[in-house]
Amino acid sequence: MRQHIALIALLGGIPVALGIWPIPRSLETGTSALKLAPDFTIELNVHNPPADLSAAVSRSANYIKTDKLEQLVVGRGASNSSAVSRAPQLKSLTLSLEPGSTVHSIMDEAIKEIGTRSEEYKLDVPASGESATLTANSTLGLLRGLTTFEQLWYDLSGDTYTIQAPISVIDTPAYPFRGFMLDTARNFFNVSDIKRTLDAMSWVKISQFHWHVVDSQSFPLQIPGFMEVSQKGAYSSSMVYTPEDVQDIVQYAGERGIDVMVEIDIPGHTSVFSESHPDFVACAEASPWATFASEPPAGQLRFASATVKNFTAGLLTEVAKMFPSSIMSTGGDELNTECYAQDPETQATLKETGQDLQQALSVFMQAAQGALQTQGKTPAVWEEMVLDNNVTLSNDTVVLVWISSMDAAAVAAKNFRIVHAPSDYFYLDCGAGEWVGDDPEANSWCDPFKTWQKSYTFDPLANLTEAQTSLVLGGEQLLWTEQSSPANLDPIVWPRAASSAEVFWTGATLPGGEPRNGTEALPRLHDVAFRMAQRGIRAIPLQPLWCALRPGKCNVDS
Ligand SMILES: *[C@@H]1O[C@H](CO)[C@@H](O)[C@H](O)[C@H]1NC(C)=O
Ligand SMILES: *[C@@H]1O[C@H](CO)[C@@H](O)[C@H](O)[C@H]1NC(C)=O
Ligand SMILES: *[C@@H]1O[C@H](CO)[C@@H](O)[C@H](O)[C@H]1NC(C)=O
Ligand SMILES: *[C@@H]1O[C@H](CO)[C@@H](O)[C@H](O)[C@H]1NC(C)=O
Ligand SMILES: *[C@@H]1O[C@H](CO)[C@@H](O)[C@H](O)[C@H]1NC(C)=O
Ligand SMILES: *[C@@H]1O[C@H](CO)[C@@H](O)[C@H](O)[C@H]1NC(C)=O
Ligand SMILES: *[C@@H]1O[C@H](CO)[C@@H](O)[C@H](O)[C@H]1NC(C)=O
Ligand SMILES: *[C@@H]1O[C@H](CO)[C@@H](O)[C@H](O)[C@H]1NC(C)=O
Repeated sequence: MRQHIALIALLGGIPVALGIWPIPRSLETGTSALKLAPDFTIELNVHNPPADLSAAVSRSANYIKTDKLEQLVVGRGASNSSAVSRAPQLKSLTLSLEPGSTVHSIMDEAIKEIGTRSEEYKLDVPASGESATLTANSTLGLLRGLTTFEQLWYDLSGDTYTIQAPISVIDTPAYPFRGFMLDTARNFFNVSDIKRTLDAMSWVKISQFHWHVVDSQSFPLQIPGFMEVSQKGAYSSSMVYTPEDVQDIVQYAGERGIDVMVEIDIPGHTSVFSESHPDFVACAEASPWATFASEPPAGQLRFASATVKNFTAGLLTEVAKMFPSSIMSTGGDELNTECYAQDPETQATLKETGQDLQQALSVFMQAAQGALQTQGKTPAVWEEMVLDNNVTLSNDTVVLVWISSMDAAAVAAKNFRIVHAPSDYFYLDCGAGEWVGDDPEANSWCDPFKTWQKSYTFDPLANLTEAQTSLVLGGEQLLWTEQSSPANLDPIVWPRAASSAEVFWTGATLPGGEPRNGTEALPRLHDVAFRMAQRGIRAIPLQPLWCALRPGKCNVDS
């Protein structure tokens, strides 16, 4: 008997031992046991395979050996032991590219312009023990398929098995931009913390690392030609990302199918430039900070100044050269106008040039975006740049919606492409209380805590017209790190950030057109969390183990 996953959900059946996340476009499973032969191998039927594809195959083979994840059911699979012991043995999985495909490295495929990447794949695992096959049009598609293959297997007394053979998957994502954002400026994360996060991201097919690398508090990014900024602005000489570190991270990400969008947030959130270039920053560390900034320390670039504009364009040009991605962000959130109203230098410049603040901002943004475009980048900004300001932006600008999910429609009305990053669904830091000192009664500004269930209900097309749907590139979950460090990175992110990974892989609905179903998703997300834990990520439990082993039993109405 073969059944479609959508039918399982509709018929109210409990999905046993099906840990695939995100859910594929099409999935057919059977009810036979199949186990891996002791000498199981992954064969790469690709001429001159790129090194990162061979490495991905080795990683997969290794995960399949070492995951040792037991089924999340009472007895942990013991009731299947006789079926498993009699099961046919799968000797190999064969990977090949469709005839006519050109062979590029996974990284080269992953950093292609958004919307031109090929992530689709087909995976077939016969029940008989005959070789399984994985085909794709690109090495990136093969990587996505390998990731799915890894999720099929459980351990029972040393046997690596499934009880759902045959398995047939045809898969492709709904949206190309499936992201995770990490802020490395409020608190520092070293290269190995970031790599560990990239690994976990790749396991749920996240395609985009949005690196909010610098902010008012610290400037850890070393930029050739602009070394003084990090020399003076990093928390310490060891809390920096050298150009070699950046290359290492970008390469590590690319090999795992992840593109890195770096963000240099300007002209707000730039107090730190006052350490190296005091003349460039208005209201630096002004008090009370709340008058001049959303959080301490205050300080914003004097963007009306020609010198500052030229400096910024030069800096952005050098950053652009460090990152091979075709997309780069100049931020642009939370610009405080009082800071400039009280800044004699800015007022004098505006008077001299006969500009108002908005006109000067427009000129500055054109210089900033011009620098990016000269380097071949598509520019990205936070939503305020199009919703709260009257500045001329390049029409290919990608806009990240963060303040509220309800702002997406206004951005679409201006015909800009959208990445959903709304605080009311996707901010991972909300609900942890106030961090500003001397304020014991306050809560976080974006209370409450955003559970995976809340994130999972997000509708990428809410309130958009049919014609506007093509403006949606995808979305991301975000970790702002005022109260995070390597100490709580894994627990605060995982498995919650897998939630949007499925939303943006599957799209507005499940593949069959039914609404996404958190009840159906929960056992699979438990699987994600437990598999991550087996691989060294300190993912947190979503429920008591009792519930994880009894799908459905802890629902509100059961
Ligand atoms: C969600 O899935 C559960 C379990 O499969 C099922 O009982 C329920 O009816 C589904 N809900 C919707 C709205 O489809
Ligand atoms: C595995 O065990 C479950 C629970 O007892 C059972 O429903 C299923 O049919 C078994 N599958 C196989 C292949 O033995
Ligand atoms: C390869 O691309 C073609 C054309 O888009 C598509 O029909 C086919 O299904 C793809 N193959 C795989 C294995 O995804
Ligand atoms: C990076 O940070 C982690 C966790 O804080 C620590 O265990 C590790 O030693 C650090 N690695 C390096 C290279 O500094
Ligand atoms: C502009 O900045 C560059 C460095 O990026 C510097 O070499 C040049 O002198 C500056 N030009 C002006 C007019 O300030
Ligand atoms: C926006 O800027 C344009 C060009 O500078 C100007 O013509 C227009 O009046 C401005 N609109 C508002 C609402 O300020
Ligand atoms: C952006 O503007 C260019 C040049 O004016 C035009 O060719 C292109 O079609 C526009 N793109 C979009 C997405 O509107
Ligand atoms: C969509 O519009 C409705 C009605 O105006 C509103 O209640 C809802 O919050 C909106 N949702 C989003 C995501 O914009």
